[in-house]
Amino acid sequence: MGYPHPPHPRETVLLSQYFGDPEARSLAGWRQRGGYRALEQALAMEPTAVTTIVKDSGLRGRGGAGFPTGTKWSFMKPGDGKAHYLCCNADESEPGTFKDREIMRWTPHALVEGCAIAAYAIGAETVYIYIRGEFTEPLQRMTEAVREAYAAGLLGPGAMGGKARIDVRIHKGAGAYICGEETALMNSIEGRRGNPRIKPPFPATAGLFGMPTTINNVETLAAVPHIITQGAAWYKAMCLSSPKSPGTKLFSVCGNVRRPGNYEVVLGFPFEEFLYDLCGGPPAGRKFKAIIPGGASVPIQTMDEVRATKMDYEGFVAGGSMLGSGGVICIDDAQCMVKQIGRLARFFAHESCAQCTQCREGTSWTTKIVERIEAGQGTPDDLDTLLEIADNMTGKTICVLSDSCAVPVVSGIQKFRDEFDAHIQGHRCPFRVAAAAA
Ligand SMILES: Cc1cc2nc3c(=O)[nH]c(=O)nc-3n(C[C@H](O)[C@H](O)[C@H](O)COP(=O)(O)O)c2cc1C
Repeated sequence: MGYPHPPHPRETVLLSQYFGDPEARSLAGWRQRGGYRALEQALAMEPTAVTTIVKDSGLRGRGGAGFPTGTKWSFMKPGDGKAHYLCCNADESEPGTFKDREIMRWTPHALVEGCAIAAYAIGAETVYIYIRGEFTEPLQRMTEAVREAYAAGLLGPGAMGGKARIDVRIHKGAGAYICGEETALMNSIEGRRGNPRIKPPFPATAGLFGMPTTINNVETLAAVPHIITQGAAWYKAMCLSSPKSPGTKLFSVCGNVRRPGNYEVVLGFPFEEFLYDLCGGPPAGRKFKAIIPGGASVPIQTMDEVRATKMDYEGFVAGGSMLGSGGVICIDDAQCMVKQIGRLARFFAHESCAQCTQCREGTSWTTKIVERIEAGQGTPDDLDTLLEIADNMTGKTICVLSDSCAVPVVSGIQKFRDEFDAHIQGHRCPFRVAAAAA
C-alpha cells in the first residue's frame, strides 16, 4: 500500500477501497477482489432492468451537475436500429479535482466494468473513454486494462461469451478544460475543434457522430458495479442527510489544509467535521477563511456557511454553494481573497473557447478588473462593473463556462466585500503589506 493516506475510520471506502494496492490493477487481481461479477450479473438481465436498478439506486452524476444517472440512461432506446455510444468523461480538468485520475490509476478495471455495464444498458456497442492529455499514468493503466479485458474475452465482438458486443476505445485529449463539457468532448472525439454545441439537440437524441449518446463521469461509472452486485436498496440506504443524495462520494481536498488528498464519505457528512476531523483543519497557527467546496465553478463559502453544511447536493446549495465536482479548495486567513478570485478568473479567461462574446470578453474583462483591484489600482465603480459583467455572463452562452467565471466573482464580492473595499480605498493589497512586514 502506498497511497498518500490510509483510510480515516470515518471514511466509507467503496471506490477508493483499493487505492494504493498495486495488485488490484491487473485483471487477475481485480477478479480476485470480485471484479467482473457485476458485468456477468448485468448481462444476464434485460438492458432496461439494469437501467431500472441504477435509477432505483438514486445514483447521481459525479461530473458536476448531479443529474440522475438511471434517468439519463433511460433516454436511450436500445434496439431502435441506430448506433448508440457511451462516452466516459475522464477529462477531469476542474481546478481542485483529482479523484477520477486516482480511480483510473489504481482500479482501471472498475471503470472498464462500469463502462461495459452502462454500454449494455443503453444499447451502445462502442464506448469512448476520453482521457485528459496530461494523464500519462492513468492513460497507461486504462490502456493496459482494456487490452487485458479484450484478451480475456470480456470485451469485443463476443463479450462475456457472446452475450453482447462491447468495444472500448481510449481517446486521449489534448489538455483543454472546455473538452470536459460533454458536447465539446464529442466534437473533440470526432476530430473537430473542442467547441461546445448548442443544445437541443441533446446527446441522447443526436450526440457522437449524430447518434444517440450518453456521457458519464468516471466516478459515476465506477459506482455502477457496486450497485449491480449489492442492489439498489443497499445503495439508496447509504445516506446521511437528503434522501435525494445517496451513496458515497470522493472529495479531493487541497489548498491550505493539513492533510490534503482524496476522501470518500457517505453523502450528507457534516462538512465542518470533514474539514477538521478527516482533513486535519488549517495549517498550524492559521484559521480557515473560506472554502470553495466543488471545484472552481461553485460559489465560495464563508466559514459560517460551512458550519451549517451537509455534504450532499441539497446540503451544499442550502449552505450557499454547490457540490460540483467535489474538489474542496481550502483558503486560510493569510490569503487575499481578491488575489484568489483573480486567479480563478484568469483560469476561465484562458480556457474560454471564445465562441460566445459574453464569455470571450467577459472572462477577460473580469480578470483585468479583479487583477487591477488586487494591484491597488481599482476604483469604487469597479465592483458594480464586475457585477454587471457577471450578469451578462450568466445564462446567456452555449455552455456554462461563462457562468462558472461569474460565480466566484459574485460570491466573492457578496461575501468578502470588505477585502475588495480595503484594496480600493487603501490603494494596495493589505495582505501583501502584512506579508512584507512579517
Ligand atoms: C466547462 C465544463 C467542463 C466540464 N468538465 C468536466 C470534466 O472534466 N469531467 C466531467 O465528468 N464532467 C465535466 N463537465 C460536465 C459534463 O459536461 C457532463 O455533465 C458530465 O460529464 C456528465 O456526467 P455525469 O452525469 O456522470 O456527471 C464539464 C462541464 C463544463 C460546462
